[in-house]
Amino acid sequence: MTLLDATLAAGLPIASACGSEGACARCGLEIVEGESGLAPETERERRIKERNRIDPKHRLACRVRPETDLTVRAGYW
Ligand code: FES
Repeated sequence: MTLLDATLAAGLPIASACGSEGACARCGLEIVEGESGLAPETERERRIKERNRIDPKHRLACRVRPETDLTVRAGYW
């Protein structure tokens, strides 16, 4: 399950404009706790964030598959 799917399953709104294709970067979330349980950022994710001017510390929720519990934050929550 992606972080985007987990966020929606938790009943929280999350922005997405590309259908989870990893293109829009609207799903960027700040990882508050648990980042060590995530796979490292890929070069593609880094480029998408840069192109869309997303905070480099955020992760794209549709690209991330958490293996442990996370605490995340969106600027619009
Ligand atoms: S939903 Fe578009 S990049 Fe994640």
